[in-house]
Amino acid sequence: MFINSFIGSFMLDSKFRIQNSMDIKKILQNTLLPPLDAELLLSRTLKKPREYLFIHPEKKLTKNQIVKFNNFSKRRVKGEPIAYLFGKKEFYGLEFLVNKNVLIPRPETELLVEAALREIMNKESGIKNIVDVGTGSGNIIISIIKNIPRRIREKINFSATDISEKALHVAKKNAKKHKIDEYIKFIKSDLLEFASQRKLKGNVIIVANLPYVSKNSYQKHKDNLKYEPKTALISEKNGLEYYVRLIRKIGKIRKSGRSGQVLAFFEISPEQKKGISEIIGQALPPAKIRFFKDLSGKTRVVKIDK
Ligand SMILES: C[S@@+](CC[C@H](N)C(=O)[O-])C[C@H]1O[C@@H](n2cnc3c(N)ncnc32)[C@H](O)[C@@H]1O
Repeated sequence: MFINSFIGSFMLDSKFRIQNSMDIKKILQNTLLPPLDAELLLSRTLKKPREYLFIHPEKKLTKNQIVKFNNFSKRRVKGEPIAYLFGKKEFYGLEFLVNKNVLIPRPETELLVEAALREIMNKESGIKNIVDVGTGSGNIIISIIKNIPRRIREKINFSATDISEKALHVAKKNAKKHKIDEYIKFIKSDLLEFASQRKLKGNVIIVANLPYVSKNSYQKHKDNLKYEPKTALISEKNGLEYYVRLIRKIGKIRKSGRSGQVLAFFEISPEQKKGISEIIGQALPPAKIRFFKDLSGKTRVVKIDK
């Protein structure tokens, strides 16, 4: 990260630390953090909104507040994401608890939620099961449920899986926080393996934002990603290993003589468009594929419809 490269440990240990006598204005002038970061850390330290900093520039921090701010700053300068410092992140207009065991929800994943919601609202009564595979903080499934009217919600079974017990713990806490924990079955499972025992009846929607960062790409972006769990990010086979396995499993579910449709929405990286099309073409012929682009025109979501 840029700031890492120019703030050496000497600066951090001496000049960087905020001294007792400093007021808000002086802190903001003296900090080596980018201005927005400094403002966010300071307002969090003071438990006040950001505007407070500009209305009360003369306010001096207490000793405890200075210790807290210096601690936040030190962690931030080393590259720790603000979401981990604060233990929360906003996604789809909702606040989610996060810690080092879960990926920090990304704005681009909102496109997946939007696409799935459109499908659910179109099919109103037809969908019996919605499964979020690799739920992490639970951001996708919780955002979906919170945006479905109660009368439709009541008719659907929602499940969320993750291979990580610790991630499921965070997801459960988020479901409680948003008062929808009664709707979701959280299942520790390798992808959709649980579906071998518990049959998914009727029309099913599968949503997944599985690890899709290739090893090469991870090496390139390591500085930005090093605080997040590798198990939430890296995937073999150019980032597509998990999707290959999940698509094969969907194929098996469909061949098991069940009635009803299986639709899937996956988040991918733009350069995986061709690769994922080929995999779907081989494993699920003759599936219909549709891609969704984000606001910057990049392909982010694939919908599989059979
Ligand atoms: C990219 S993160 C996405 C988290 C969250 N859904 C989101 O959109 O922010 C991928 C998640 O998949 C989980 N995961 C990795 N391998 C898995 C597997 N084999 N089966 C189920 N979940 C897995 C990780 O633990 C992680 O929580």
